[in-house]
Amino acid sequence: MAKARQKSKAKPSSTKNKLTESQIAVHWKEEEYLRPSKKFIAQANLADPAFVKKFDEKHFPECFDLYASLLDWDKPWRKTLDSSNPPFWKWFVGGKLNACYNCVDRHLAKYKNKAALIFVPEPESEPAAVITYQELYKRVNEVAAMLRDFAGLKTGDRVTIHMPMIPELPITMLACARLGIVHSVVFGGFSGEACGLRAADSGSRVLIYADGYHRNGKWVDHKASADIAVHTATKEGQPIEKVLIWQRYPGRFTSDAPVVANRDFFVNDVLKNYRGQTVEPVSQDAEAPLFLMYTSGTTGKPKGCQHRTGGYLAYVTGTAKYYQDIHPEDVYWCMADIGWITGHSYIVYGPMALGATSVLYEGVPQYPDAGRPWRIAERLDVNIFHTSPTAIRMLRKAGFHEPKIYNYHFKHMTTVGEPIEPEVWKWYYEVVGKSQAVIVDTWWQTETGGFLCTTKPALDPMKPGSAGPAALGIYPVIWDEEGKEVKAGSGHAGNICIRNPWPGIMQTIWGDPQRFVTQYYKKYNKNPKSKNWRDWPYYAADGAMLPADGYYRILGRVDDVINVAGHRLGTKEVESACLTIGEIAEAAVVPAVDEVKGRVPVVYISLKPGVPSTKAIQDKVISTIETMIGKIARPKTIHIVPDMPKTRSGKIMRRVLAAISNHMDTGDITTLANPDIVEQIRELVQGRNATPLKEGPEDIKRFGEEA
Ligand code: WTA
Repeated sequence: MAKARQKSKAKPSSTKNKLTESQIAVHWKEEEYLRPSKKFIAQANLADPAFVKKFDEKHFPECFDLYASLLDWDKPWRKTLDSSNPPFWKWFVGGKLNACYNCVDRHLAKYKNKAALIFVPEPESEPAAVITYQELYKRVNEVAAMLRDFAGLKTGDRVTIHMPMIPELPITMLACARLGIVHSVVFGGFSGEACGLRAADSGSRVLIYADGYHRNGKWVDHKASADIAVHTATKEGQPIEKVLIWQRYPGRFTSDAPVVANRDFFVNDVLKNYRGQTVEPVSQDAEAPLFLMYTSGTTGKPKGCQHRTGGYLAYVTGTAKYYQDIHPEDVYWCMADIGWITGHSYIVYGPMALGATSVLYEGVPQYPDAGRPWRIAERLDVNIFHTSPTAIRMLRKAGFHEPKIYNYHFKHMTTVGEPIEPEVWKWYYEVVGKSQAVIVDTWWQTETGGFLCTTKPALDPMKPGSAGPAALGIYPVIWDEEGKEVKAGSGHAGNICIRNPWPGIMQTIWGDPQRFVTQYYKKYNKNPKSKNWRDWPYYAADGAMLPADGYYRILGRVDDVINVAGHRLGTKEVESACLTIGEIAEAAVVPAVDEVKGRVPVVYISLKPGVPSTKAIQDKVISTIETMIGKIARPKTIHIVPDMPKTRSGKIMRRVLAAISNHMDTGDITTLANPDIVEQIRELVQGRNATPLKEGPEDIKRFGEEA
């Protein structure tokens, strides 16, 4: 790593306010380093360079014993890594533990009266609710007793949880973990149909819901989507025996949906029979699956990433401790949703294994105004804050000076989920962090369990816009399409891969091990028979650049996944939804740059012969996408085109459509079967006058390459 330069002279923030978000996106150059404060370094969990040395490649894989030893094991592991059947790794072989015990029970001796969770309801008139570790222990046990004795669930069964950000969500997850029930949490913003498909894929007999919740000042009737989920799962061949419904206001059913006798049960009522019961945590094999998390990939069907108990918990605990610098006395707030991997790893499992106080906020950041997050931080004295670039861009736009009004002090801030533009990073640093908090920009994925690239907050200087060096024990490499290494400082981008296994990596895709191999390991594997882990690099499907200082800059997806506001959207899923509409002949979904959300989906459709192009069709596209996937997939625009640009073999050239939607050069189109269509579509989208071309971002230039 190059020697860090001194902190650059900060410009007064008022001039920065004048830059528009779209200008920011292009003003991206190598940035000056910034250093953490002495005060931060003095208290940091990771400040000893000797600790870092222990993760040198020559110490792999045993270096990860340092993470596993942060946990309480019922039985110690015999072997750190069994790599005899690549790429199906086994971590901490022979070890036994319980994830719930590690996140709850073991803290009672020292911290039973300390807040485990602080729930902040969206309506500001409702007070925050504090759940101590003792109370959490009681509630988790009662729920575990109910899951076992009322719902008939046992170790190894899967259960699908479709819930908003209320404390009953982590309580339910931990109760599952106590019994070794594999939870599959579906993000609350997905539709009932999307939930039903995931429930069917995982073979869940039981669904767990909430009746409703507050979001952006409105009441969301969530129970209604349970009925759709049950219907969808049943249609897919997976009957649902029970739907357990948490009431947002215990004792009051807030949904208009009917209650189906002998299928729907209110948790608050059922729990009365389990008051005070305790359930022994089931000692689990380190390799026993802990949870599934469905995510989008290159084909239409979402895939269930299966995470193991021991390796996953060790990895998130270690990374939360050393990169997020979580101590038990910290008040930690991750403003993500538990329905995504960030929430699993860094709201629930990581922080709670460390005995931290984790804040749970029900609503959207800018409700009722852009000062809300800073009021929460002030009130609860939050000192570690974690959020996404989209949220930062949104809050910057809606309330540039708001953070200054509030008397809170972060020691540490995290960003995750998308590349963050240096100008936005600087606002986060100077205004939100008051130039006191250290920032880590963490790059990772649902599949990877925890952070892969990030600075070590007390040891590495920060560089705005860069995820930073590899995390401890992670050895990345960037390869071009031919498998040639793209060296540090070459100025070229390539595909980032991880050369070695690590404990947080998913075990497999639920029910589809072959797809696991093909999707993540086939691309750069030269010998499928090899039993040596060195021949099995993990392919992340992200583009990246590596300057001479060893700080990775992540450029975004190179497959057909679009990162919308930090959420992964599979364009094939959206296209499949469009194709269920009878009038539509073909559909292609491409990303467009958006100044707040990063990327947004744009839909191109062509209609069957004789079908008139109407607004009604466009409306149908929107409602179908919202029903089949959810509001998060709502397209920004829908273009009805006479035909799609296609190769001679009939493949839709999505790259060309993406170039048009982003005013970029469409490149060589002479090989198309119908090159004339390109100008027609361009005119339809951009108007008659040719607009100046822009140098677009790498992910859009390469969009659809992998498809
Ligand atoms: C993107 C979220 C740039 C990346 C944890 C990745 C990032 C996808 C960063 C995974 C970052 C995540 N900088 N890009 N710090 N973090 N990404 O599975 O494209 O929801 O492949 O996991 O988000 O999204 P996922």
